[in-house]
Amino acid sequence: MIGTHATRLLIVEDSPSDRRIYRRTLQGFDIHFAGSGEAALESLRREPFDAVVLDFDLPGLDGAQVLGMIRDGLKLDVPVVVVTGGGSEDLAVGLLKLGAHDYVTKDLLPTPRVAAAVLGAMDRHRLDRAHRDAEEALRRRNVELEQALRQLKEAQAQLIQGEKMASLGQLVAGVAHEINNPLSYVANNLVVLDRDVRDVAAIMAAYRAHFGDAIPAPIREAEGRVDLPYTLANLDRLLRSSRQGLDRVGKIVAGLRDFSRLDEGHRKLIDPNEAVRTTVEMVRHQARLKDAELTIDLLPLPKIWCNPGKLNQVLLNLLINVLQAVGRGARIVVATSANSEDSEVSFRVSDDGPGIPEAIRGKVFDPFFTTKPQGVGTGLGLWISFCIAAEHQGRLELDTEVGQGTTFTLVLPTRLPSDIP
Ligand SMILES: Nc1ncnc2c1ncn2[C@@H]1O[C@H](COP(=O)(O)OP(=O)(O)OP(=O)(O)O)[C@@H](O)[C@H]1O
Ligand SMILES: [Mg+2]
Repeated sequence: MIGTHATRLLIVEDSPSDRRIYRRTLQGFDIHFAGSGEAALESLRREPFDAVVLDFDLPGLDGAQVLGMIRDGLKLDVPVVVVTGGGSEDLAVGLLKLGAHDYVTKDLLPTPRVAAAVLGAMDRHRLDRAHRDAEEALRRRNVELEQALRQLKEAQAQLIQGEKMASLGQLVAGVAHEINNPLSYVANNLVVLDRDVRDVAAIMAAYRAHFGDAIPAPIREAEGRVDLPYTLANLDRLLRSSRQGLDRVGKIVAGLRDFSRLDEGHRKLIDPNEAVRTTVEMVRHQARLKDAELTIDLLPLPKIWCNPGKLNQVLLNLLINVLQAVGRGARIVVATSANSEDSEVSFRVSDDGPGIPEAIRGKVFDPFFTTKPQGVGTGLGLWISFCIAAEHQGRLELDTEVGQGTTFTLVLPTRLPSDIP
């Protein structure tokens, strides 16, 4: 039988008569013999072979053990043809499962079947390897594609979110500006009105003191109808509460302005509690519409180095998610605290809403992951918040239980290594 000239064949066979048969039937192969499994393993460890013909019945290790060692111990994927005693088909099937490429029964040794099995095994081995290489290349390509897709999605998400926040910032700044004009003249008018009303009241009092009973009856009747002393006292109350109302509007406008400074790209030293107050103010109305009880629980905190617009953005994303998730009458708490060394501050946003099912917990931070209908959610809020936390060398953590509620905790370092001179 003809083998490829350079085919190095290791034949594991202890019987001299069988070796003679191999020499005869495998002419053309570069044949090397090993008399035992141990000797075969030693040869395979030392030098390369193109194929192995392995007798199953060997002194010492049997064929299955040697095959196991070739595959698992030496980690060689050299093609192996096992030679078994006659009538041992089951054994042969077991050996194929262990990694043999083919088997022949001993009675076929003197026939061309052995050479055919060796060449067939080598072909199959080549095909297997080509297949594996192709699969590996495909797998690598897939990983690359997935990575490219992820990068593309992230870039797209950055763009969308950036635009969303920029236009929200502009919108808020515009509204704040529009309110500010009438607010300032109403506030001025109120001061003037207050002063003028007092002057008029003083003049009225002077008239009364001077004329007393001489005031004509129709004027006295008119005074009685409007209950002048009460009206004058009430005007004072009305002016006071109007002033308080205007103060409050003024604070909201200032808050809106703070909030809209999202394009302040740089970091500064800020009071973290102030960020919470400003942002909570932004959603208070929405909370009221849902009859939600929105409380803030702020502990004294060290100042932190951060980008205030981005911090507001994270808190707003978390709060909007809560308001979208909870039903009527929910309880929402925003709390802050610092760790014992004052090296980190935590912002906790908790709700007693539906919680997040385990199956999607791992996905909520992925860009574009949303459970909301189109037009309601783009699935970017948590992802961008996660990125902002990372930019600040902080973290965003999730703790949730279905039916109990959800807590997101943003942890930020008070000082970033790069900020320490
Ligand atoms: N407090 C919460 N309670 C229950 N589910 C939540 C809560 N916060 C977030 N989720 C879930 O996490 C998903 C992802 O939130 P994320 O803010 O990233 O996107 P979104 O709110 O769906 O869309 P976007 O924020 O872009 O408008 C939500 O669709 C929702 O299913
Ligand atoms: Mg969201």
